[in-house]
This record gives sequence, structure tokens and C-alpha cells, in this order.
Amino acid sequence: MEHEGTAAVATGSGRGVLITGAGGQLGRALAGRYPEARAWTRADWDVTVPWPGGEPPELVLHTAAWTDVDGAEDDPQGAAAVNVGGTQHAAALGAPIVVFSTDYVFDGRKREPYVESDAASPLGAYGRTKLHAEAASGERAWVVRTSWLYGPTGRNFVRTILRLGAERDEVAVVDDQRGCPTYVGHLAAAVPAIAQLPFGVYHVAGAGECTWADFAEAIFEEAGLPTRVRRITTDEFGAKAPRPAYSVLRSERGAPTLPHWRDGLRECLARVR
Ligand SMILES: NC(=O)c1ccc[n+]([C@@H]2O[C@H](COP(=O)([O-])OP(=O)(O)OC[C@H]3O[C@@H](n4cnc5c(N)ncnc54)[C@H](OP(=O)(O)O)[C@@H]3O)[C@@H](O)[C@H]2O)c1
Repeated sequence: MEHEGTAAVATGSGRGVLITGAGGQLGRALAGRYPEARAWTRADWDVTVPWPGGEPPELVLHTAAWTDVDGAEDDPQGAAAVNVGGTQHAAALGAPIVVFSTDYVFDGRKREPYVESDAASPLGAYGRTKLHAEAASGERAWVVRTSWLYGPTGRNFVRTILRLGAERDEVAVVDDQRGCPTYVGHLAAAVPAIAQLPFGVYHVAGAGECTWADFAEAIFEEAGLPTRVRRITTDEFGAKAPRPAYSVLRSERGAPTLPHWRDGLRECLARVR
């Protein structure tokens, strides 16, 4: 799925840009980057139904998604309706589209970074719906695979860990999954450059890598909390959905590189405060 595109006409501006899922953490960050865009929340457009009509967009930034990884195991059809059906509806608008996908399309068996040409093999229902969404995004799409997203709003690991750290002396965190935490502000800032590239799949994630336990320790350090991290295994944690043990993403296709995840963490915490 690599299509050379005339990206110069595809970058969009002003009201010509449509952001779906604008109430989510990435959608909000993009709305900050594209202040004149139409930033549509689920209340404006539930993407499981076709586009309600109106002035057609010139560029779609499609962030609306079912992101409850464990919930997708219980309701894979519900997850598919949003992730696959929603992407089909967004792609049907006919405008170039930036679609956000995930490291969870990989099974995590590699021990060196996943690049765009690596074969996808999702372990769980969420990853499967996102892989199908990639296929549903059409020929004028930038498919941006990213990972471990966090920001100052919404449901994410940083906010959960901060809350737990304020309540407890010790928090048990998984130490056998390794990936790239990605600050939504850094990802949103890279989107205009991505929309200048040929259409295709790109890996765009925070520089560096760590485990969830490393990430939690860094959050406590940066936030000045004395909470300890107890390192546990994925099996001990016992989440419903399987997750890749290793999902570090890097680009072999010249995608923009993002700042280190720890720099993103500092920026995020400055905004949380
Ligand atoms: N979060 C991660 O760690 C991560 C990692 C890799 C890739 N991604 C991908 O990155 C993208 C953005 O993720 P995110 O972390 O910003 O997700 P998020 O914070 O969960 O935001 C997703 C947004 O989509 C909305 N939404 C859900 N169902 C919808 C529907 N039927 N119609 C319209 N909107 C709907 C949600 O609204 P409600 O709040 O009303 O449900 C929410 O505002 C997604 O494509 C996700 O798969 C995320």
C-alpha cells in the first residue's frame, strides 16, 4: 500500500481540514495545531454512520477510534464498526486522509525495531480492527502507525500513573513489554510534514524505548513523587487482551522523527500541572 501522491494539493488548510474524534487526546492536539480546522467530536459525527453532509473536506485527519484494547476482546464487532467502518466512511469523503494506526498490528516477536515493511500479525481484536482499518483507508492515505500515546487530557498511562502515585506508596507495573511512548503534541506537530510525503504507511513514534515500568518510574521522577514501582510480568498483570512484548517502531521510509519520549513526558507534565 504505497501510492505516490501529489501531496502538494493534499496538505489542506483552514476549514478545509476535518478532524474526526476531536474529543480524544490526539484529536485535541491536532485541533491545537490546526486552529481553523473543523474539529468534530463524536457528537458532531458518529463515524459508524456515513458522513452527515456539508462542505466536503480537502484533508481528513482521522483520529476517531475504538481505543479500548481489552474491551475490543469482548465486543470485536463494536470495535470493528468504529475502526473499520469509521475509516471506510472517512475515506469515502474522497479527500486525502491521515489515518492513525498502532504498534499493536505487530505480534512483538522481533527484538529489533519494527519498520514499515515488516509483516503485521496482530495478537488481539483491537490490532486486527486497526489492520483492517489500514486496508480500508483507500489509495490517498497516509497510514501513521504510532504507539503508547499520552497527553495532558483523556485516558492514558501518564494520567493513570499520576493518579495512582498520589494514592499509593507502590504501584505494580508491567516490565516485559517494550515500546515507544509518544507524546500527542509531538505527533500532531509532525502531521503537516507527513502530509507532504507520498501516500503510504509510516512509523512515527517517540524516540528512545522503554518498558511500562521504566515509563512509570520516569513519570514519578519527573513529577517529584516518592512512589515506588514494583516490576511485574504481563502474566501477573493479567489483562484481557494479549499485547506485543516488543513493539518499538522506526521508519525506513523517511517519516519525521519525533523527540525522545522523556522530553515529551516533561512537556506533557508541564501541561498537566
Ligand atoms: N492511545 C494509544 O496509545 C494509541 C496508540 C497507537 C495508536 N493509537 C491510535 O491513535 C488514534 C488516536 O488515539 P487517541 O489515543 O487519541 O484515542 P482516544 O483518546 O481514545 O480518542 C478517540 C476519540 O474517538 C472518539 N470516538 C470513538 N468512537 C467514535 C465514533 N463512533 N464516532 C466518532 N468518534 C468516536 C472517542 O470519543 P468518546 O470519548 O466519546 O468515546 C474519542 O474522542 C486512534 O486511531 C488510535 O487507534 C492510539
